[in-house]
Amino acid sequence: MSSALDGSPYQGYLYGYPHKTAYRALEVPVPLGQVWRDEPRDALFLYVHVPFCAMRCGFCNLFTAAGPVEAVVARYLDALEREAKALRAEVGRLRFVRAAVGGGTPTFLSEGQLSRVLDLMQLEPGVPLSVELSPETTTPEKVALLARRGATRLSIGVQSFVPAELAQLKRPQELPDVERALDAMRAHTRCLNLDLIYGIEGQTEATFVSSIRAALRWAPDELYLYPLYVRPLTLLGRGGRSWDDERLALYRAGRAYLLANGYAQVSMRMFRKNGAATAPAPAYRCQEDGMVGLGCGARSYTRSLHYSNEFAVASREVRGIIEAYSARDADSFRFASYGYRLGDEDRLRRRVILSLLSDDGLTLDVADARELPQLAELEDRGLAARAGERLVLTPAGLERSDAIGPWLQSEAVTAAMKGWQLR
Ligand SMILES: C[S@@+](CC[C@H](N)C(=O)[O-])C[C@H]1O[C@@H](n2cnc3c(N)ncnc32)[C@H](O)[C@@H]1O
Ligand code: SF4
Repeated sequence: MSSALDGSPYQGYLYGYPHKTAYRALEVPVPLGQVWRDEPRDALFLYVHVPFCAMRCGFCNLFTAAGPVEAVVARYLDALEREAKALRAEVGRLRFVRAAVGGGTPTFLSEGQLSRVLDLMQLEPGVPLSVELSPETTTPEKVALLARRGATRLSIGVQSFVPAELAQLKRPQELPDVERALDAMRAHTRCLNLDLIYGIEGQTEATFVSSIRAALRWAPDELYLYPLYVRPLTLLGRGGRSWDDERLALYRAGRAYLLANGYAQVSMRMFRKNGAATAPAPAYRCQEDGMVGLGCGARSYTRSLHYSNEFAVASREVRGIIEAYSARDADSFRFASYGYRLGDEDRLRRRVILSLLSDDGLTLDVADARELPQLAELEDRGLAARAGERLVLTPAGLERSDAIGPWLQSEAVTAAMKGWQLR
């Protein structure tokens, strides 16, 4: 029997597979024209990374630098434009059917800078576009600009409505800023998303549910409930078995409240308002379709190669990587030089993991079951069940998504991740 499934439910959030800590320098840089030559290029996702924030929250290990001076931001945006241009020159036609600007905090940028980012994306009209915001950087003018420029989904990190919990998270955030930002966002978008965190020191089921209740005042179309992870090199420090139980209890309380109040569960973290409109657009299946990332923390996915820049968590390293990215010339952007090559096994595992961990579920074919006996074990343990042709996680499986994902990784990916040097 597999110990990993019996251990902590909070082993790792697999929002992509393989995890970026499995990436390494490629033996030889590969021209992007070659990388994309035989790939489908008519239903891609475009992701642009803005690695700046007004502040560094105590819990956050995303690739971002707090409070950069104006010149650093300007140099970064110049480099983004060079990268976008080099990509198009090297690869030729790319058709995007989904797009996102994430971070960090894109709304750390001024209106003029946000416009530059949207310009370089060159999206066709009507392509669904998601943008991440944070309360203190959001102004009604920026929200209006984003809506005018085609943003169809606006997503904001709130984390908690309880001041003591924000202090625990080391996230300086004022309620009036949150309310102003949410009012503006609600007025301008049909898809509003809000992030909350559970597992904060001192948080109880009652205070967590009170934050969810506060969030529902803006009738968000989506809510993400994130279990708090405390990683090395962030400012917090927590751990231990009882904290797992605490997070599980909070998750169950939050989930029950949302299910009873008009929301459906899409994945362990994501809840969607019943009846919320999903933007009409050509289909994009994250399990299979490609992604083009622009910016120093962005990843790009083809069927056989995932690539990105190098990344780090510690702030001095992050700043160094942003500087190095900003200094790159147009020619250097023509190549992929850091990434992970996926063979048949990793392609299969990627499809299985990403399908199972979302409400899509896995459309089972005989080969999957033969290649991956772990799927039968999930059923035996009551963590997954058949729903017609599909295998879907049960409630017990959903709440253990962050154990099931890492457990389904290939040995090669797990070994590469273990060998990654934290910095
Ligand atoms: C890019 S941020 C959202 C936008 C914006 N930067 C903000 O903080 O308002 C993505 C989300 O990831 C979640 N997150 C980041 N680090 C986390 C951690 N260590 N544990 C749990 N959730 C985390 C937070 O809920 C955060 O809102
Ligand atoms: S949580 Fe958001 S605002 Fe805070 S450091 Fe991370 S990306 Fe920046």
